[in-house]
Amino acid sequence: MNTMNKKIGIGLLGLGTVGTGVANIVFSSAGRHPLVSKINIKRIAVRDLQRKRSLEIDTSILTTDPFEVVKDPNVEVVVEVMGGIEPARSLIMLAIDLGKSVVTANKAVVARYGKEISDAANAAGVYVLIEAAVGGGIPIIEPLKQSLGGNKIKKVTGIINGTTNFILSQMTKEGANYQDVLNQAQELGYAEADPGADVNGHDAADKIAILSGLAFGGSIKRESIPTKGISNIENKEINYANQLGYELKLLAIAEHLENYSEIKETSLALRVEPTLVPNDHPLSTVNGVNNAILIEGDPIGEVMFYGPGAGAGPTASAVVADILNIAGIKLMQNSGAKSLDPLLSASSWRKCHLANPREISHKNYVRLITADAPGVIGSIGNIFGNHKVSIESIVQFDSNIEGAEIIVITHKVSKGQIIDSLLEIKKLSEVIQIAAHLSCL
Ligand code: NAP
Ligand code: HSE
Repeated sequence: MNTMNKKIGIGLLGLGTVGTGVANIVFSSAGRHPLVSKINIKRIAVRDLQRKRSLEIDTSILTTDPFEVVKDPNVEVVVEVMGGIEPARSLIMLAIDLGKSVVTANKAVVARYGKEISDAANAAGVYVLIEAAVGGGIPIIEPLKQSLGGNKIKKVTGIINGTTNFILSQMTKEGANYQDVLNQAQELGYAEADPGADVNGHDAADKIAILSGLAFGGSIKRESIPTKGISNIENKEINYANQLGYELKLLAIAEHLENYSEIKETSLALRVEPTLVPNDHPLSTVNGVNNAILIEGDPIGEVMFYGPGAGAGPTASAVVADILNIAGIKLMQNSGAKSLDPLLSASSWRKCHLANPREISHKNYVRLITADAPGVIGSIGNIFGNHKVSIESIVQFDSNIEGAEIIVITHKVSKGQIIDSLLEIKKLSEVIQIAAHLSCL
C-alpha cells in the first residue's frame, strides 16, 4: 500500500463534550483541510458503554479500558480528552513510553506534570501537543511556542476561563443570579466536571501556569499561584464597578519582574483574581464564553488573541489542529525524505472562484430622503417585503421643508435582493434620494 494513502490511527480517550466535538470533525471531513480525511478514529475509551451518545458511532470501537486503547497497535496518536489527574497522567506517560505522540486538552495534568511529560516526550522523540488546554478554540500555545519566539515576553494577561466570564457577563448584562448562570454554563458544556475548579479560579490558575511556562521558558510550582475565584462576587459589586467605568473580570496574570531580585533566576509574578478592568481596555469588551489573552513583548508591543474559550466545537477545533500537526509530520516521514510538512508548506487543495456579488448576503444600512408625506414608510416597507427583505428597524428622523430622512437597517439579505428593492424604491414619487447604502456586520 502507498504509505501516503495509509490513514493515521487515532485512539480517543473520552467521548464527552470535547471528544464528541473531535469525532464530529473527523467524521465529516468534506470541506476541511485534506489532512482531516487522512485520520481515522480506531478506538474510543468511555466510562459508561450504555450512555446515550449524541453521534452515531460504531459501538465495536468503544471500550471502558483506556489502557487498552493506548496499547492498541492500530493507535498511532493518543488523544486524551477524558479529564482528571489520574488515570489521565498515567495514560499520557504510557503512550509516550510506547513511542506514541499525544494530544491533550487536560490543563490540570499539564499544569502539574508538564515538565515530567515534556522531558519524557523529548527523550522518546514524540510530541505532546496541548493547544486545547488554554483558551478553548483560540490558537495561543503554538503562537507562543513559534510565532512570538523572537520576543522577550514581559507580561501575559488573560481572561482564560469561559465559565466565569460567561457568569460575570450575564450578571453584568442581565443582573442574572450567580447559581442560575452557573447551571446554564454546565448545560452548555463550558464547565469542568467539578465546576468548583472554574468558579474558584483553579482552572484559570492551571492555564496561566502553562502560559507562563511557555512565555518565560521555565515551569513554576502550580500550587504557589495566588488564586481567588468569583464565587463570593455579588451583583452589587458589578453594578458599582460599571458605574465607575469598569467591567469586573476574572483575570490571570503572569509578569516578568525585571531588576526585581539579585538572584539569577527569572522573577515572575503570577495571580488569578477578580479585577476591575477600565472600560477602554481591550479586555473589558471580552464577554460571554469568550476568552482573550493579551501578550506584551519586546519588540512586538501588545498582541491580543481573542475567541471562544470553551465548548465542544471550539475546543475540538484546537484538538484537531494538534492531531493534524502530528499527522502531517507522520505522513511526511512515511513518504520519504523529500516531502515537506504539509501544514508548514503552502499548497492549493481545492478550486476556488469568486461568487456572483448578487449572492453575497449581509445586513444593510440605507438612508433615504423622502417627501414628508403620509404612507411613505408603508410604501417603502411594501417594496422591501415584495423582495423578501426583512427589516430590522426603520426610523424617521428630522423632517423639514426639503423632506424627511428615513434610516432602514435590514436583516441579512442577498445583495441581489437589496439592489432590486432599492431600484424600485428609487422610482417612488415620494423618494427624493437614496442618500446612502452601506453594508453592516
Ligand atoms: P466530559 O464531557 O466530562 O467527558 C469526559 C469523557 O471521558 C466522557 O466521555 C467519559 O465517559 C470519559 N471518561 C472519564 N473518565 C474515564 C475513565 N476513567 N475511563 C474511560 N473513560 C472516561 O469532559 P469534557 O468537557 O469533554 O472535558 C474533557 C477534557 O477537556 C478535560 O480535561 C477538560 O478540562 C478539557 N477541556 C474541556 C473544555 C470544554 O469546554 N468542555 C475546553 C477545554 C479543555 P462517559 O461519556 O462514559 O461518561
Ligand atoms: N471549564 C473551562 C472553561 C473549559 O470554562 O474555560 C475550557 O478550558
